[in-house]
Amino acid sequence: MRRRVLLAGGALTVGGAVAAGAAAARSGGGGGTDAAAPATVDGLGGQMVPFHGPHQAGIATPAQAHAAFVALDLAAGVDRAALRRLMLVLSGDAARLTQGRAPLADGQPELAYVPARLTVTFGFGPRLFDAAGLAGQRPETLRQLPAFPIDRLQPRWCGGDLLLQICADDPLTVAHAQRVLVKDSRPFATVRWVQRGFRRARGMQDDGVTQRNVLGQLDGTGNPAPGGAVFDGAVWTDTGPGWLHGGTTLVLRRIRAELEAWDAVDTAGKEFAVGRRLSDGAPLTGRREQDPPDFAAKNALGLPVISERSHVARAHVTGDRQRIFRRPYNYDEPPGADGTADCGLIFAAYQRDVGGQFLPIQRNLAEADLLNEWVTPIGSAVFAIPPGCEPGGWIGRTLLG
Ligand code: HEM
Repeated sequence: MRRRVLLAGGALTVGGAVAAGAAAARSGGGGGTDAAAPATVDGLGGQMVPFHGPHQAGIATPAQAHAAFVALDLAAGVDRAALRRLMLVLSGDAARLTQGRAPLADGQPELAYVPARLTVTFGFGPRLFDAAGLAGQRPETLRQLPAFPIDRLQPRWCGGDLLLQICADDPLTVAHAQRVLVKDSRPFATVRWVQRGFRRARGMQDDGVTQRNVLGQLDGTGNPAPGGAVFDGAVWTDTGPGWLHGGTTLVLRRIRAELEAWDAVDTAGKEFAVGRRLSDGAPLTGRREQDPPDFAAKNALGLPVISERSHVARAHVTGDRQRIFRRPYNYDEPPGADGTADCGLIFAAYQRDVGGQFLPIQRNLAEADLLNEWVTPIGSAVFAIPPGCEPGGWIGRTLLG
């Protein structure tokens, strides 16, 4: 019944006073009567990231400790008008939850009081544009990636119409936000996959230091710095359909790492494969982490110090507009039937243009990256990430409004 009403474009929800109140509270994308007091907790749990602004939060935001990437598939019959209602509801939920406030229909409002830098970032997959009758608005760059010879893709980690990227410094905060958002999506969409990832717990290291990934490598050194001109020029879309300007695109790859084989390699072998030192992340030609790699430097035998097949040599690009921004999370699931670790990266890369930025790098890596011996892409998805919204607005309005 509830679903029929939603799809038909009637009342946002039915079934009693609480639900009616929830609809009223949500309609303003964060305005309306409060279901719960704002967060008052001290310390890291009380920290909040603004929901509103020109760009969606969760990209330039320093990576939180926990993430859930949730891909939804739109139900049959969800057209542009229904999608619009869905985005209104979800934006309202996210505007509240990120500020430590519970949506009114939240069955467990107390869980919202620890925002822990929660961000919710929405993305639109390629198929959404066809389903919603918006094929003409799909950015040319937004299509599933071509198959690469290194791929061993499993359908259960691929595709998706609508992405909820939920990040916070606390896993219960992530779980609660996921529960609310999935519940409120239910009339419109079903969950296709969920990928949970983690980084170091907040406070374990100074903010801003480059973190290690599950392979033990310092990961993120070569990223453009969020907030800087290079980051802005590489990440925020300024060409193509106007509705995406100020947004970006996300390529999400689930990359399994053969950790036991990697563990068996000595330090010199691991450093050779990447082109950087394990101890401090410095390039093999430099002394400090931030020294630029010197790809022309030769050793006594006349061979490049940083192998042409090393990960950094293959991934390096020279033009600032060609760069990508990586914001990866680790995953570590129970071992498979053979008892080996099921670990790797939920590799999230943001760029203006998948075809012009991500793809050339991925092609270079697929062709000859030494790291390929230990890492295998098993999932792949792409999403357009719409721009942010101002108070009273909602995410996706530039496309659906
Ligand atoms: C499990 C898979 C991967 C691992 C373990 C990994 C690890 C690393 C490490 C340790 C570095 C050096 C430090 C840094 O700059 O962050 C690096 C750099 C980089 N990686 Fe990856 N990476 C993986 C997959 C990828 C993929 C799929 C792409 C893009 C298609 C990519 C693009 C880059 C880029 C652009 C750099 C910076 C290169 C430069 O110095 O200019 N990586 N990666």
